[in-house]
Amino acid sequence: MDLDKLTVIKPAPTPGNTEWFVHDRFGMFIHWGLYALPARHEWVKNHERMSNEQYEKYFCHFDPDLYDPELWAKVAADAGMKYFVVTTKHHEGFCLWDSDLTDYKVTNTPYGRDLLGPMVEAFRGRGLKVGFYHSLLDWHHPDYTVDECHPMRDNAEYAAKDKERDFARYREYLFGQTRELLTRFGKIDILWYDFSVGPSHRYPGKGKDEWHSEELIKLVRELQPGILINDRLQIDQDIKTPEQYMPREWVKVNGVPVVWEACHTFSGSWGYHRDEESWKSAEQLIIMLIDAVSKGGNLLLNVGPTGRGEFDERALDRLTEIGKWMRRHSRSIYGCTQAPLEFKAPECTKLTYNPEKKRLYIHVLSWQFNKIYLEGELARHVDYVQLLSDASEIRFNRESDELVSLNIPVKKPLGCIIPVLEVFLK
Ligand code: GLC
Repeated sequence: MDLDKLTVIKPAPTPGNTEWFVHDRFGMFIHWGLYALPARHEWVKNHERMSNEQYEKYFCHFDPDLYDPELWAKVAADAGMKYFVVTTKHHEGFCLWDSDLTDYKVTNTPYGRDLLGPMVEAFRGRGLKVGFYHSLLDWHHPDYTVDECHPMRDNAEYAAKDKERDFARYREYLFGQTRELLTRFGKIDILWYDFSVGPSHRYPGKGKDEWHSEELIKLVRELQPGILINDRLQIDQDIKTPEQYMPREWVKVNGVPVVWEACHTFSGSWGYHRDEESWKSAEQLIIMLIDAVSKGGNLLLNVGPTGRGEFDERALDRLTEIGKWMRRHSRSIYGCTQAPLEFKAPECTKLTYNPEKKRLYIHVLSWQFNKIYLEGELARHVDYVQLLSDASEIRFNRESDELVSLNIPVKKPLGCIIPVLEVFLK
């Protein structure tokens, strides 16, 4: 079959312009807020059923004196990340910028200055695209009613006051803050709302009717044409967002492949968690990135900075390793997507494909002895093969029309956590 006739999946078009997004593939998520201080999950207020008064001590002690956004941006860029998405406000309600619409913001903490502006500038300065995560939930706002995800859900007295809460006023706040975020920080590339709450036997949920999602989306697109919006307003827009799992195949909606981005933590918690021990290795994380691209998706990998304002050592360690790998292997990530459906991945490998350059990337997950076999349609198109890390030739034998055997070195190449073979196709 002609190379151009092979089946390369294209995701369904969306309202925004996803061209850069599906090219860049790899972004940094940042979850930062007051929860960095308790350092035991960003949902700590919920998990421990804390009242606003009990949670106040974190507001009073928030002072990230070592915060250096230039350094953060450098770490992200060196890891090969091309965009970032930061929590402007998480469910706790605390705002990282100097909002006119609340006092519950960083400028009123001991730190006393805006955190968001300098971050945006630093990352943009390194060429990264800018994304804002914004929580629809708000566990601090006086007009935000109780639902099953609320810290006060078991507090009958607090819940009874819902009658006096005016959710429309909260919604105005949500719209107003969206307007601030999209007018004060220059071009914003992604808006990542989170999330719609299901109903329970005790409380109603909150979804598109409560958020006025349609109107909100309209506002966002008016203020920032071309922006990408995720799917958590209960109306699908540009990006589907599977969370903390690797999809089995290209993510589909009603059977149609869509633009998607898996978001993942290093260790389970999104916010800084001092004592969590379930950290993924650099190798696992690199495989997750490869896996996402091999199914036509992106990876948004999360860092939870500390209360001093630093990336934690364990995150730095992984990001450095990922960066080392990306320096020599990003060609198999950027601009790549799922391989043509006619191609079968050899044992213990994952494939990605650059449709423009017509190159196939074979990621060798476990180095085996001496041979890798390429079969069927793939075998027919092999023209030249090299190890991506050093452009050293990989010689091959054409066993038959349907079988090519690659002669791979006995030793796994040094310094490549996951070695990649670059196949030039004809
Ligand atoms: C969830 C959680 C949250 C996290 C988000 C990231 O919805 O509520 O803590 O920010 O996922 O995808």
